[in-house]
Amino acid sequence: MNYNKKTVKDVDVKGKKVLLRCDFNVPQDKATGAITDEKRIVAALPTIEYLLDQGAAVIACSHLGKPKDGPDPKLSLAPVAKRLSELLGKPVTMAADVVGPDAAAKAAALRPGEILLLENTRFEKGETKNDPELAKRMAAMADLYVSDAFGAVHRAHASTAGVAAYLPAVSGFLIQKELEIIGGALASPKRPLVAILGGSKVSSKIGVINNLLEIADTIIIGGGMAYTFSAAQGGKVGDSLLEADWEDYSREMVAKAAAKGVKLLLPVDTVAADAFAPDAARQVVPAGEIPDGWQGLDIGPETVKLYCDAVKDAGTVIWNGPMGVFEFPAFAKGTEAVAEALSKTSAITIIGGGDSAAAVQQLGYAGKMTHISTGGGASLEFMEGKELPGVACLLDK
Ligand code: 3PG
Repeated sequence: MNYNKKTVKDVDVKGKKVLLRCDFNVPQDKATGAITDEKRIVAALPTIEYLLDQGAAVIACSHLGKPKDGPDPKLSLAPVAKRLSELLGKPVTMAADVVGPDAAAKAAALRPGEILLLENTRFEKGETKNDPELAKRMAAMADLYVSDAFGAVHRAHASTAGVAAYLPAVSGFLIQKELEIIGGALASPKRPLVAILGGSKVSSKIGVINNLLEIADTIIIGGGMAYTFSAAQGGKVGDSLLEADWEDYSREMVAKAAAKGVKLLLPVDTVAADAFAPDAARQVVPAGEIPDGWQGLDIGPETVKLYCDAVKDAGTVIWNGPMGVFEFPAFAKGTEAVAEALSKTSAITIIGGGDSAAAVQQLGYAGKMTHISTGGGASLEFMEGKELPGVACLLDK
Protein backbone atom coordinates (compact mmCIF):
# COMPACT_ATOMS: atom_id res chain seq x y z
CA MET A 1 0.00 0.00 0.00
CA ASN A 2 1.23 3.50 -0.85
CA TYR A 3 1.37 5.81 2.15
CA ASN A 4 2.77 8.72 0.23
CA LYS A 5 -0.43 10.71 -0.05
CA LYS A 6 -1.14 14.30 -1.04
CA THR A 7 -1.81 16.56 1.92
CA VAL A 8 -3.58 19.88 2.42
CA LYS A 9 -0.24 21.53 1.57
CA ASP A 10 -0.28 20.02 -1.93
CA VAL A 11 -3.55 21.67 -3.00
CA ASP A 12 -4.94 25.18 -3.12
CA VAL A 13 -7.56 25.51 -0.38
CA LYS A 14 -8.14 29.27 -0.50
CA GLY A 15 -11.79 30.10 -1.04
CA LYS A 16 -12.68 26.39 -1.20
CA LYS A 17 -15.40 24.60 0.74
CA VAL A 18 -13.60 21.71 2.41
CA LEU A 19 -15.39 18.63 3.71
CA LEU A 20 -13.10 17.60 6.58
CA ARG A 21 -13.57 14.11 8.03
CA CYS A 22 -12.34 14.07 11.63
CA ASP A 23 -12.48 11.32 14.23
CA PHE A 24 -14.42 13.04 16.98
CA ASN A 25 -15.49 9.69 18.42
CA VAL A 26 -14.58 10.76 21.95
CA PRO A 27 -15.45 8.99 25.20
CA GLN A 28 -18.24 10.62 27.21
CA ASP A 29 -19.48 10.32 30.76
CA LYS A 30 -22.56 8.06 30.60
CA ALA A 31 -24.58 10.12 33.05
CA THR A 32 -23.69 13.70 32.06
CA GLY A 33 -22.49 13.34 28.46
CA ALA A 34 -19.33 15.32 29.36
CA ILE A 35 -16.32 14.55 27.15
CA THR A 36 -13.86 12.57 29.29
CA ASP A 37 -10.89 12.58 26.89
CA GLU A 38 -10.54 15.35 24.31
CA LYS A 39 -7.30 14.04 22.76
CA ARG A 40 -8.94 13.41 19.39
CA ILE A 41 -10.40 16.93 19.22
CA VAL A 42 -7.04 18.47 20.10
CA ALA A 43 -5.32 16.25 17.51
CA ALA A 44 -7.58 17.66 14.76
CA LEU A 45 -6.78 21.31 15.54
CA PRO A 46 -3.63 21.78 13.40
CA THR A 47 -5.46 20.83 10.19
CA ILE A 48 -8.59 22.83 11.06
CA GLU A 49 -6.56 25.92 11.98
CA TYR A 50 -4.45 25.63 8.83
CA LEU A 51 -7.52 25.38 6.59
CA LEU A 52 -9.25 28.31 8.26
CA ASP A 53 -6.08 30.44 8.16
CA GLN A 54 -5.67 29.69 4.46
CA GLY A 55 -9.15 31.02 3.75
CA ALA A 56 -11.07 27.76 3.38
CA ALA A 57 -14.61 27.26 4.69
CA VAL A 58 -14.53 24.06 6.75
CA ILE A 59 -17.44 21.61 6.81
CA ALA A 60 -16.27 19.19 9.51
CA CYS A 61 -17.90 15.80 10.03
CA SER A 62 -17.41 12.69 12.19
CA HIS A 63 -19.15 9.69 13.64
CA LEU A 64 -19.75 9.34 17.38
CA GLY A 65 -20.51 5.96 18.94
CA LYS A 66 -22.63 3.38 17.18
CA PRO A 67 -26.19 4.73 16.76
CA LYS A 68 -28.39 1.76 15.84
CA ASP A 69 -31.42 3.36 14.32
CA GLY A 70 -30.95 6.85 12.92
CA PRO A 71 -30.60 10.03 14.98
CA ASP A 72 -30.10 9.57 18.72
CA PRO A 73 -29.83 12.79 20.77
CA LYS A 74 -27.44 11.05 23.21
CA LEU A 75 -24.95 10.66 20.35
CA SER A 76 -25.22 14.20 19.00
CA LEU A 77 -21.93 15.92 18.16
CA ALA A 78 -23.19 19.14 19.85
CA PRO A 79 -20.84 18.72 22.89
CA VAL A 80 -17.92 18.36 20.46
CA ALA A 81 -18.96 21.55 18.62
CA LYS A 82 -18.97 23.39 21.94
CA ARG A 83 -15.51 22.15 22.99
CA LEU A 84 -14.08 22.66 19.50
CA SER A 85 -15.32 26.24 19.54
CA GLU A 86 -13.61 26.85 22.91
CA LEU A 87 -10.34 25.33 21.66
CA LEU A 88 -10.39 27.28 18.38
CA GLY A 89 -11.53 30.50 20.03
CA LYS A 90 -14.17 31.01 17.36
CA PRO A 91 -17.79 29.98 16.75
CA VAL A 92 -18.49 26.49 15.41
CA THR A 93 -21.92 26.31 13.78
CA MET A 94 -23.71 23.02 14.43
CA ALA A 95 -25.93 21.49 11.75
CA ALA A 96 -29.06 19.65 12.84
CA ASP A 97 -28.49 16.89 10.26
CA VAL A 98 -25.80 15.33 8.07
CA VAL A 99 -26.91 15.99 4.50
CA GLY A 100 -30.43 17.23 5.17
CA PRO A 101 -31.84 20.73 4.55
CA ASP A 102 -30.19 22.31 7.60
CA ALA A 103 -26.69 21.01 6.74
CA ALA A 104 -27.09 21.94 3.07
CA ALA A 105 -28.29 25.49 3.86
CA LYS A 106 -25.58 26.11 6.48
CA ALA A 107 -22.88 24.68 4.20
CA ALA A 108 -24.04 26.89 1.33
CA ALA A 109 -23.95 30.00 3.54
CA LEU A 110 -20.50 29.21 5.02
CA ARG A 111 -17.84 31.87 4.36
CA PRO A 112 -14.04 31.49 4.14
CA GLY A 113 -12.53 31.22 7.63
CA GLU A 114 -15.79 29.81 9.11
CA ILE A 115 -16.44 26.31 10.38
CA LEU A 116 -19.56 24.17 10.43
CA LEU A 117 -19.89 20.76 12.13
CA LEU A 118 -22.35 18.31 10.60
CA GLU A 119 -24.34 15.97 12.85
CA ASN A 120 -23.07 12.44 13.58
CA THR A 121 -22.51 10.81 10.17
CA ARG A 122 -23.90 7.51 11.52
CA PHE A 123 -27.32 9.15 11.94
CA GLU A 124 -27.51 8.40 8.19
CA LYS A 125 -28.01 4.67 7.68
CA GLY A 126 -26.04 4.77 4.43
CA GLU A 127 -22.87 5.82 6.26
CA THR A 128 -21.66 2.41 7.45
CA LYS A 129 -22.91 0.79 4.20
CA ASN A 130 -20.71 3.17 2.20
CA ASP A 131 -23.81 4.17 0.25
CA PRO A 132 -22.74 6.06 -2.92
CA GLU A 133 -25.87 8.25 -2.84
CA LEU A 134 -24.98 9.49 0.65
CA ALA A 135 -21.35 10.00 -0.37
CA LYS A 136 -22.54 12.05 -3.38
CA ARG A 137 -24.77 14.23 -1.19
CA MET A 138 -21.88 14.89 1.22
CA ALA A 139 -19.55 15.70 -1.67
CA ALA A 140 -22.14 18.08 -3.20
CA MET A 141 -21.63 20.49 -0.26
CA ALA A 142 -17.88 20.92 -0.89
CA ASP A 143 -15.08 21.42 -3.44
CA LEU A 144 -12.43 19.34 -1.71
CA TYR A 145 -12.32 16.37 0.70
CA VAL A 146 -9.72 16.27 3.45
CA SER A 147 -9.49 13.28 5.75
CA ASP A 148 -7.82 13.60 9.12
CA ALA A 149 -9.80 10.83 10.80
CA PHE A 150 -6.95 8.41 11.39
CA GLY A 151 -9.01 6.53 14.02
CA ALA A 152 -11.57 5.64 11.34
CA VAL A 153 -9.37 4.93 8.29
CA HIS A 154 -9.94 1.18 8.69
CA ARG A 155 -13.65 1.76 7.96
CA ALA A 156 -14.87 1.84 4.36
CA HIS A 157 -17.79 4.14 5.12
CA ALA A 158 -19.40 6.91 3.05
CA SER A 159 -17.65 9.73 4.93
CA THR A 160 -14.30 7.95 5.38
CA ALA A 161 -13.82 6.52 1.88
CA GLY A 162 -16.87 6.68 -0.43
CA VAL A 163 -16.89 10.46 -0.72
CA ALA A 164 -13.38 10.43 -2.22
CA ALA A 165 -14.90 9.10 -5.46
CA TYR A 166 -16.65 12.45 -5.99
CA LEU A 167 -14.10 15.04 -4.82
CA PRO A 168 -10.33 15.51 -4.96
CA ALA A 169 -9.16 13.85 -1.71
CA VAL A 170 -6.09 14.63 0.38
CA SER A 171 -4.94 14.01 3.95
CA GLY A 172 -4.69 16.37 6.90
CA PHE A 173 -1.67 16.67 9.19
CA LEU A 174 -2.80 14.02 11.69
CA ILE A 175 -3.12 11.24 9.11
CA GLN A 176 0.16 12.39 7.57
CA LYS A 177 1.90 12.10 10.97
CA GLU A 178 0.40 8.69 11.81
CA LEU A 179 1.39 7.35 8.37
CA GLU A 180 4.90 8.73 8.61
CA ILE A 181 5.61 7.44 12.11
CA ILE A 182 3.81 4.07 12.17
CA GLY A 183 4.32 3.46 8.44
CA GLY A 184 7.99 4.39 8.77
CA ALA A 185 8.50 2.02 11.70
CA LEU A 186 6.94 -0.84 9.75
CA ALA A 187 8.64 -0.15 6.42
CA SER A 188 12.17 0.80 7.48
CA PRO A 189 12.50 0.64 11.26
CA LYS A 190 15.50 1.81 13.19
CA ARG A 191 16.69 -1.58 14.50
CA PRO A 192 16.45 -3.53 16.61
CA LEU A 193 12.65 -3.34 16.31
CA VAL A 194 10.97 -4.63 19.46
CA ALA A 195 7.21 -5.24 19.41
CA ILE A 196 5.42 -5.56 22.74
CA LEU A 197 2.04 -7.22 22.37
CA GLY A 198 -0.41 -7.59 25.20
CA GLY A 199 -4.13 -7.48 25.81
CA SER A 200 -6.52 -10.23 26.62
CA LYS A 201 -6.93 -12.29 23.48
CA VAL A 202 -4.56 -14.03 21.08
CA SER A 203 -7.44 -14.17 18.60
CA SER A 204 -7.57 -10.37 18.30
CA LYS A 205 -3.81 -10.07 17.78
CA ILE A 206 -3.21 -12.85 15.22
CA GLY A 207 -2.87 -10.46 12.28
CA VAL A 208 -0.41 -8.26 14.17
CA ILE A 209 1.71 -11.17 15.40
CA ASN A 210 1.79 -12.64 11.88
CA ASN A 211 2.85 -9.37 10.27
CA LEU A 212 5.35 -8.40 12.95
CA LEU A 213 7.01 -11.82 12.78
CA GLU A 214 8.10 -10.75 9.29
CA ILE A 215 9.45 -7.38 10.44
CA ALA A 216 10.47 -7.34 14.12
CA ASP A 217 13.71 -8.52 15.73
CA THR A 218 12.05 -9.24 19.09
CA ILE A 219 8.42 -9.89 19.99
CA ILE A 220 7.37 -9.66 23.63
CA ILE A 221 4.10 -11.26 24.70
CA GLY A 222 2.22 -10.18 27.83
CA GLY A 223 -1.32 -9.68 29.08
CA GLY A 224 -4.06 -12.28 29.06
CA MET A 225 -2.96 -13.79 25.78
CA ALA A 226 0.29 -15.03 27.36
CA TYR A 227 -1.72 -17.74 29.18
CA THR A 228 -2.81 -19.30 25.89
CA PHE A 229 0.86 -19.46 24.86
CA SER A 230 1.69 -20.97 28.26
CA ALA A 231 -1.08 -23.59 28.06
CA ALA A 232 0.03 -24.44 24.51
CA GLN A 233 3.40 -25.40 25.96
CA GLY A 234 1.87 -27.61 28.62
CA GLY A 235 1.80 -24.97 31.36
CA LYS A 236 -0.83 -24.91 34.10
CA VAL A 237 -2.81 -21.67 33.88
CA GLY A 238 -5.46 -22.23 36.60
CA ASP A 239 -8.46 -19.95 36.00
CA SER A 240 -6.53 -17.50 33.78
CA LEU A 241 -7.94 -16.23 30.50
CA LEU A 242 -7.49 -19.03 28.00
CA GLU A 243 -8.41 -19.40 24.35
CA ALA A 244 -8.01 -23.15 23.99
CA ASP A 245 -8.87 -22.96 20.27
CA TRP A 246 -5.77 -20.85 19.71
CA GLU A 247 -3.21 -23.13 21.37
CA ASP A 248 -2.17 -24.71 18.05
CA TYR A 249 -1.72 -21.28 16.54
CA SER A 250 0.39 -20.16 19.51
CA ARG A 251 2.64 -23.21 19.07
CA GLU A 252 2.99 -22.41 15.36
CA MET A 253 3.98 -18.82 16.17
CA VAL A 254 6.67 -20.00 18.59
CA ALA A 255 8.03 -22.35 15.90
CA LYS A 256 7.83 -19.68 13.20
CA ALA A 257 9.71 -17.18 15.36
CA ALA A 258 12.46 -19.76 16.02
CA ALA A 259 12.73 -20.56 12.29
CA LYS A 260 12.99 -16.86 11.40
CA GLY A 261 15.46 -16.02 14.14
CA VAL A 262 12.96 -13.62 15.78
CA LYS A 263 13.35 -13.54 19.56
CA LEU A 264 9.93 -14.34 21.06
CA LEU A 265 9.82 -13.56 24.76
CA LEU A 266 7.13 -15.09 26.96
CA PRO A 267 6.56 -14.44 30.68
CA VAL A 268 8.74 -16.42 33.09
CA ASP A 269 6.64 -15.58 36.14
CA THR A 270 3.15 -14.36 36.89
CA VAL A 271 1.29 -12.37 39.54
CA ALA A 272 -1.62 -14.70 40.27
CA ALA A 273 -4.81 -13.66 42.08
CA ASP A 274 -7.50 -15.72 43.78
CA ALA A 275 -10.24 -13.69 42.06
CA PHE A 276 -10.68 -11.08 39.33
CA ALA A 277 -10.89 -8.21 41.79
CA PRO A 278 -8.78 -5.18 42.73
CA ASP A 279 -8.30 -6.44 46.30
CA ALA A 280 -7.83 -10.15 45.48
CA ALA A 281 -5.16 -12.11 47.36
CA ARG A 282 -2.04 -12.45 45.21
CA GLN A 283 1.14 -14.45 44.88
CA VAL A 284 4.02 -14.59 42.40
CA VAL A 285 4.39 -18.00 40.76
CA PRO A 286 6.57 -19.33 37.93
CA ALA A 287 4.85 -19.09 34.53
CA GLY A 288 2.96 -22.28 33.77
CA GLU A 289 2.56 -23.12 37.46
CA ILE A 290 -0.59 -21.21 38.33
CA PRO A 291 -2.50 -23.19 41.00
CA ASP A 292 -6.11 -24.25 40.46
CA GLY A 293 -8.51 -21.54 41.56
CA TRP A 294 -5.95 -18.78 40.81
CA GLN A 295 -5.60 -16.62 37.72
CA GLY A 296 -2.77 -14.59 36.25
CA LEU A 297 -3.50 -10.85 36.29
CA ASP A 298 -0.03 -9.41 35.65
CA ILE A 299 3.50 -10.34 34.61
CA GLY A 300 5.82 -11.11 37.54
CA PRO A 301 9.01 -9.29 38.64
CA GLU A 302 11.45 -11.56 36.74
CA THR A 303 9.44 -11.04 33.56
CA VAL A 304 9.46 -7.29 34.16
CA LYS A 305 13.29 -7.39 34.29
CA LEU A 306 13.50 -9.51 31.15
CA TYR A 307 11.12 -7.27 29.18
CA CYS A 308 12.64 -3.98 30.37
CA ASP A 309 16.12 -5.26 29.42
CA ALA A 310 14.85 -6.12 25.96
CA VAL A 311 13.75 -2.53 25.23
CA LYS A 312 16.90 -0.86 26.61
CA ASP A 313 18.94 -1.10 23.42
CA ALA A 314 16.03 -1.07 20.97
CA GLY A 315 16.03 1.31 18.00
CA THR A 316 12.24 1.24 17.73
CA VAL A 317 9.58 -0.09 20.10
CA ILE A 318 5.98 -0.65 19.05
CA TRP A 319 3.63 -1.35 21.95
CA ASN A 320 0.10 -2.65 21.59
CA GLY A 321 -1.81 -3.99 24.59
CA PRO A 322 -1.22 -3.85 28.37
CA MET A 323 0.79 -6.47 30.31
CA GLY A 324 -1.91 -7.09 32.91
CA VAL A 325 -5.13 -5.75 34.39
CA PHE A 326 -3.70 -2.23 34.77
CA GLU A 327 -7.10 -0.83 35.77
CA PHE A 328 -6.50 -2.53 39.18
CA PRO A 329 -3.50 -0.76 40.81
CA ALA A 330 -2.31 -4.01 42.43
CA PHE A 331 -1.95 -5.57 38.98
CA ALA A 332 -0.64 -2.54 37.08
CA LYS A 333 3.04 -3.00 37.98
CA GLY A 334 4.03 -4.89 34.82
CA THR A 335 2.36 -2.37 32.52
CA GLU A 336 3.79 0.52 34.53
CA ALA A 337 7.33 -0.92 34.46
CA VAL A 338 7.19 -1.36 30.69
CA ALA A 339 5.85 2.21 30.29
CA GLU A 340 8.68 3.49 32.49
CA ALA A 341 11.28 1.50 30.54
CA LEU A 342 9.94 2.99 27.30
CA SER A 343 10.08 6.48 28.78
CA LYS A 344 13.81 5.97 29.47
CA THR A 345 15.00 4.36 26.25
CA SER A 346 16.39 6.43 23.42
CA ALA A 347 14.39 4.29 20.99
CA ILE A 348 11.54 5.62 18.86
CA THR A 349 8.52 4.61 20.95
CA ILE A 350 5.16 4.11 19.28
CA ILE A 351 2.06 3.34 21.31
CA GLY A 352 -0.94 1.84 19.52
CA GLY A 353 -4.20 3.53 20.44
CA GLY A 354 -6.92 2.01 22.60
CA ASP A 355 -5.89 0.28 25.84
CA SER A 356 -2.14 0.86 25.58
CA ALA A 357 -2.64 4.58 24.97
CA ALA A 358 -5.05 4.71 27.93
CA ALA A 359 -2.52 2.87 30.13
CA VAL A 360 0.36 5.18 29.21
CA GLN A 361 -1.84 8.19 29.88
CA GLN A 362 -3.28 6.87 33.14
CA LEU A 363 0.19 6.01 34.42
CA GLY A 364 1.56 9.46 33.56
CA TYR A 365 4.07 8.56 30.81
CA ALA A 366 2.24 10.03 27.81
CA GLY A 367 4.64 12.98 27.42
CA LYS A 368 7.64 10.66 27.21
CA MET A 369 6.64 8.66 24.14
CA THR A 370 7.58 9.50 20.54
CA HIS A 371 4.04 8.90 19.31
CA ILE A 372 0.73 7.81 20.79
CA SER A 373 -1.64 6.85 18.02
CA THR A 374 -5.15 8.30 17.96
CA GLY A 375 -6.36 5.08 16.32
CA GLY A 376 -7.34 1.93 18.23
CA GLY A 377 -8.66 -0.48 15.59
CA ALA A 378 -7.02 1.61 12.87
CA SER A 379 -3.51 1.37 14.31
CA LEU A 380 -4.01 -2.36 14.91
CA GLU A 381 -5.04 -2.94 11.27
CA PHE A 382 -2.15 -0.75 10.13
CA MET A 383 0.25 -2.95 12.13
CA GLU A 384 -1.40 -6.02 10.59
CA GLY A 385 -0.26 -4.71 7.21
CA LYS A 386 -3.86 -4.42 5.96
CA GLU A 387 -4.94 -1.89 3.38
CA LEU A 388 -6.72 1.01 5.09
CA PRO A 389 -9.67 2.17 2.92
CA GLY A 390 -9.60 5.70 4.37
CA VAL A 391 -5.98 6.06 3.25
CA ALA A 392 -6.16 4.13 -0.01
CA CYS A 393 -8.87 6.53 -1.28
CA LEU A 394 -6.62 9.61 -1.01
CA LEU A 395 -4.64 10.98 -3.96
CA ASP A 396 -1.08 9.70 -4.30
CA LYS A 397 1.73 12.26 -4.29
C1 3PG B 1 -12.42 4.24 17.20
O1 3PG B 1 -12.85 4.73 18.26
O2 3PG B 1 -11.59 3.30 17.20
C2 3PG B 1 -12.81 4.85 15.89
O3 3PG B 1 -13.44 6.07 16.07
C3 3PG B 1 -13.65 3.90 15.09
O4 3PG B 1 -14.88 3.69 15.74
P1 3PG B 1 -15.78 2.41 15.36
O5 3PG B 1 -15.06 1.21 15.91
O6 3PG B 1 -17.11 2.66 15.99
O7 3PG B 1 -15.86 2.34 13.86
